[in-house]
Amino acid sequence: MPLVSTKEMFKKAYEGGYAIGAFNVNNMEIIQGITEAAKEVNAPLILQVSAGARKYANHTYLMKLIEAAIIETDLPIAVHLDHGDSFELCKSCIDGGFTSVMIDASHLPFEENIKLTKQVVDYAHPRGVAVEAELGRLAGVEDDVKVAAEDAIYTDPKEVEEFVERTGVDSLAIAIGTSHGAYKFKGEAKLRFDILEEVQRRLPGFPIVLHGASSVIPEYVETINKFGGQMPGAKGVPEDMLRKAASMAVCKINIDSDLRLAMTATIRKVFAENPAEFDPRKYLGPAREEIKKLVKHKLINVLGCAGKA
Ligand code: G3H
Ligand code: 13P
Ligand code: ZN
Repeated sequence: MPLVSTKEMFKKAYEGGYAIGAFNVNNMEIIQGITEAAKEVNAPLILQVSAGARKYANHTYLMKLIEAAIIETDLPIAVHLDHGDSFELCKSCIDGGFTSVMIDASHLPFEENIKLTKQVVDYAHPRGVAVEAELGRLAGVEDDVKVAAEDAIYTDPKEVEEFVERTGVDSLAIAIGTSHGAYKFKGEAKLRFDILEEVQRRLPGFPIVLHGASSVIPEYVETINKFGGQMPGAKGVPEDMLRKAASMAVCKINIDSDLRLAMTATIRKVFAENPAEFDPRKYLGPAREEIKKLVKHKLINVLGCAGKA
């Protein structure tokens, strides 16, 4: 099966009241853990690559690893650029075989966001590539850029119809209170489902994307801290909120931090239990297994997309 676009995936997800997991990938073990999990539960997948991941692992290596995963799994998999910050980066990913790109101009004024997003759409659509854009601004850390909670801006539902109409974009990321990274909520988690509802009312049938959707699984943070880590107590997005979003217009749920936590907790545990270990397979192997376990749980219990490939 060749790489697929997100268009058909989102249509089915919207109609079926579930969401597709968009997992960030940076190396072979992460790609294997995610795709093996999806194969076992027969789920469609979006593998997303940030500018940082592309710089770290190299575009060609990542594409070839993903091609290998498709051969091994025969699943519908889309490759997506996460948080593209320029036309040139989006173009490079489109020319290099990605089936979907995000142009994240959410930090720009409305008119400039429209202009840059439309420029990417005009290049992507004739080449069969889908485009995600963002309105509103999430707090947290992306590619080492930190957005303070007070600088985060909820999406204004009054802007979404004009934005979608004028850009021709295929999906829209909105800010409803999630944030990137492992430190999301100080107190009780709060998501503005009223904003999501209003966006859905104004854009019926249109796929919405939720960034910053890791649950920051407490067991991983505990394990990391038990074995020498110093992560402050952190709260992520509760799973029931993600399930609710998935049953609404949210068709794509982005997860990166939970993968990082799973991997780091596992590797710390291996070294704590066997300080003499120096064979990378002995710590990367268990990390890959833990990612697989985590992703299976997300696909079945959180996203609801198991069996939908
Ligand atoms: O939203 C950002 C993702 O977690 C990717 O992070 O830019 O450090 O690869 P990264
Ligand atoms: P998390 O940091 O919550 O995993 O969010 C990932 C994300 O939104 C990638 O674009
Ligand atoms: Zn994101």
